[in-house]
Amino acid sequence: MAIFLDSGDISEIKRFKKMGVIRGVTTNPTILKKAGLTRGKSALRELEQAIAALISPLPLSVEVTGNKKKQMLDQAREFSAWADNINVKVPIHGPQGETFNLEVIHLLENRYDIRVNVTACMSAQQGLLAALAGATYVSLFGGRINNMGYDCVEEIARLRDLLDDNDLPSRIIVGSTREILNVSQWLGAGAHIVTATPALLEGMIYHPYTAETVRMFLGDCR
Ligand code: E4P
Repeated sequence: MAIFLDSGDISEIKRFKKMGVIRGVTTNPTILKKAGLTRGKSALRELEQAIAALISPLPLSVEVTGNKKKQMLDQAREFSAWADNINVKVPIHGPQGETFNLEVIHLLENRYDIRVNVTACMSAQQGLLAALAGATYVSLFGGRINNMGYDCVEEIARLRDLLDDNDLPSRIIVGSTREILNVSQWLGAGAHIVTATPALLEGMIYHPYTAETVRMFLGDCR
């Protein structure tokens, strides 16, 4: 069981690492854009290497930015060489349903010995195929699954049973967290890892009744 931080914000990563509560970091192009990354490959390399060094030996996911087969293979090899603890995120398929992503995933894990996090999975059946292809991590997008009218708890539990029953070693990461309850609920459903934003983790820590109780203790010290 583990929590990863879904963030490209160095100061937030430092903050939660110091608390000892995170076991890895996940990034994607949208998260990095929100963290202020706008300048291209050298800035991407600089930021990801800084995060990798900060959390080492904990794992960091860096996502490919192209969707052609050779482009994904080349980027994955390049990104994974930036630091020993970097794994590469590859979407389960392309924007038009291109299915060669699974071939890329299989090649990366088996021929190039690169750890892959298969991202943007919306169902247990996609996750199963990613696991069969040899992915180290399979990322189910819980919040997006729920937004489509499905119950992600059922998908998480179904995928976990399939992995366990068939001795598939892939680890399930559930991301796209939307509510504070998601973290404990999804870990309980069978996720090996839930990845959450700094704001959501902050919300897990704080409770107004704790604040009131601590105020009472401190008031009674005087
Ligand atoms: C997971 O690794 C993803 O980075 C992330 O959780 C996606 O979530 P979103 O639905 O908020 O984009």
